[in-house]
Amino acid sequence: MNMKLSITICSLSLFLGFAIIAQAKDFDIASYGGNPNGDITDALTKAWTDACAATEASRVLVGSGTYNLNALDIKGPCQAPSIEIQVDGVIQAPADPSALNGASQWIKIGYVNAFTLSGTGTFDGQGAAAWKSNDCALNPKCNWPTMNFGFNFINNSYIRGVTSKDSKNFHVNVLSCNNINFDGFNISAPGDSPNTDGIHIGRSNGVSVANTNIATGDDCVSLGDGNQNVTVLNVTCGPGHGISVGSLGRYNNEQPVSNVNVKNCTISNTMNGVRIKTWPGTPGAITITDMHFEDIIMNNVQNPVMIDQEYCPSNQCDKSTPSKIKISNVTFTNISGTSQSQDGVVLICSSGVPCDNVQLNNINLTFNGAAVTAKCSNVKPTITGTAPACAAA
Ligand SMILES: *[C@@H]1O[C@H](CO)[C@@H](O)[C@H](O)[C@H]1NC(C)=O
Ligand SMILES: *[C@@H]1O[C@H](CO)[C@@H](O)[C@H](O)[C@H]1NC(C)=O
Ligand SMILES: *[C@@H]1O[C@H](CO)[C@@H](O)[C@H](O)[C@H]1NC(C)=O
Ligand SMILES: *[C@@H]1O[C@H](CO)[C@@H](O)[C@H](O)[C@H]1NC(C)=O
Ligand SMILES: *[C@@H]1O[C@H](CO)[C@@H](O)[C@H](O)[C@H]1NC(C)=O
Ligand SMILES: *[C@@H]1O[C@H](CO)[C@@H](O)[C@H](O)[C@H]1NC(C)=O
Ligand SMILES: *[C@@H]1O[C@H](CO)[C@@H](O)[C@H](O)[C@H]1NC(C)=O
Ligand SMILES: *[C@@H]1O[C@H](CO)[C@@H](O)[C@H](O)[C@H]1NC(C)=O
Repeated sequence: MNMKLSITICSLSLFLGFAIIAQAKDFDIASYGGNPNGDITDALTKAWTDACAATEASRVLVGSGTYNLNALDIKGPCQAPSIEIQVDGVIQAPADPSALNGASQWIKIGYVNAFTLSGTGTFDGQGAAAWKSNDCALNPKCNWPTMNFGFNFINNSYIRGVTSKDSKNFHVNVLSCNNINFDGFNISAPGDSPNTDGIHIGRSNGVSVANTNIATGDDCVSLGDGNQNVTVLNVTCGPGHGISVGSLGRYNNEQPVSNVNVKNCTISNTMNGVRIKTWPGTPGAITITDMHFEDIIMNNVQNPVMIDQEYCPSNQCDKSTPSKIKISNVTFTNISGTSQSQDGVVLICSSGVPCDNVQLNNINLTFNGAAVTAKCSNVKPTITGTAPACAAA
C-alpha cells in the first residue's frame, strides 16, 4: 500500500472511530446500581435523568440479564438532542397487579423529541394474574389493569427491535405523538388474554407500525379519535381481533380520523380482519375519511372486511338513533384468503349519514371453498375486479 493511501485510510478510520465514539454518550444502568436479578426502577430513572440532561446525544443502556422494574414515569423535554434507551435484557413487571399502585402504564415515557427505544430485549408485563381478575367485560366501572407502555406527547421517535410480552392490559398506548415509528417491534400475549390490545393510537399525527408481529387477545392495532397519517405495513396479526379503526362516536369532543393506510399485512385466526366501527345514538359527528386497506391476506378470519356503524357491545347504547359519523373514501384492495363466515364482507353504514365512495377492488375471499357473500346497508360500493356483490343487510 502506498504511504499516502495508508495515511488516508488511517485518518479516515480515526475519523470514523471518533464519529462512532462521538455518536452517543452512554449511561449504563450498571453504573447506577442496576444489576441483573435486582430492581432497576431507581437506576433506570437516574440514568434517564442524567442522559436527558446531557448536552450531546445520549443513550441509556440495559444489558443482558433479567431485571425487575416497578412503575416507571420518565419525561422530557431533554437537553440532549436525541436520547435512546437500549435494552438487551429481559425486564419484568411485578406479577401482582396491585404492586403497580394503579399506574395506568408500567413504562410511561412523555414529552420527548428524538427518542429511540431499541435493542433485542423483552418487556414482560407478567399479566396472567391480572387477566384472571379482569372483569371489565361485565363491569364498566372495573379497575383497568396497567398497560405495558405509554408513549405520550413524543415526537420524531422510533421503537425498534424490542418485544412487549404478556401485558396486563393494552401493550402500547400512543397518545398525542407526532411522527412515531414502530419498526420490528414484536408483541405477544395469549389469544385468550383479555384487553391485551397491541398498539392503540390516539390523537396522533404520523404514526407508522412496520415489520411487526402482533399476537394478542384483542385488537392488534386500534385507532381512536384524532389520528391522521397512520401507516400499518408488513404486519402480521393473530391471534387477536384484527386491525381496527374505532370504536368511535361514543364520547363528545372526539376529533376526526383521516389518511390511514394498512398495507401488506397477514391476519390469521382472528375475530376480525380490517374493520371500521362506530357507535350509534351518540353525540359525536366527526368524519372518518381516506381509509385504505391493501394487499391483505386473511387466514381463517371470522369477519375479514367490515364497516360497522351499529357497534354496540353488550347493548350499552341506544340503537334507535343512527351514528352521526360520516365515513368516506374507503378502499379495500387486493384482499384474499379464507373467511370463517359466509358474509366475508359486511358494510353496515349509518342510515343518518350513509358512507360515500367505498370501493371493493379484487376481493378474493373464500368460505368453505366458495366465494364469500357481502351484506351492505346505506352504502353502494364501487366494485372493480373480483368482489362479492352486495345483498341488503
Ligand atoms: C412535539 O410537537 C408538538 C407539535 O409540533 C409541539 O407542540 C411539542 O412541543 C413537541 N414536543 C416536544 C417534546 O418536542
Ligand atoms: C418477532 O416475531 C417473529 C415471529 O413471531 C420472530 O421470527 C422474530 O424473531 C421476532 N423478533 C424478535 C426481535 O423477537
Ligand atoms: C399528513 O401527511 C401529509 C403527507 O406527509 C402531510 O402533507 C400532512 O400535512 C399531514 N397531515 C397533518 C395534519 O399534518
Ligand atoms: C417490508 O418487508 C420487506 C421484506 O421483509 C422489506 O424488504 C421491506 O423493506 C419492508 N418495508 C418496510 C417499509 O420496512
Ligand atoms: C410483506 O410483509 C411480509 C412480512 O409480513 C414480507 O415478508 C414481505 O416481503 C412483504 N412484501 C412486500 C412487498 O413488502
Ligand atoms: C374523497 O376523495 C375525493 C377524490 O379523491 C376528494 O375529492 C374528496 O375531498 C375526499 N373526501 C374527503 C372527505 O376527504
Ligand atoms: C395483489 O397481491 C398480490 C400478492 O398478494 C401481489 O402480487 C399483487 O401485485 C397485488 N395486486 C395489486 C393490484 O396490488
Ligand atoms: C383466489 O384465491 C384462490 C386461492 O386462495 C386462487 O386459487 C384463485 O386463483 C384466486 N382467484 C383470483 C381471481 O385471483
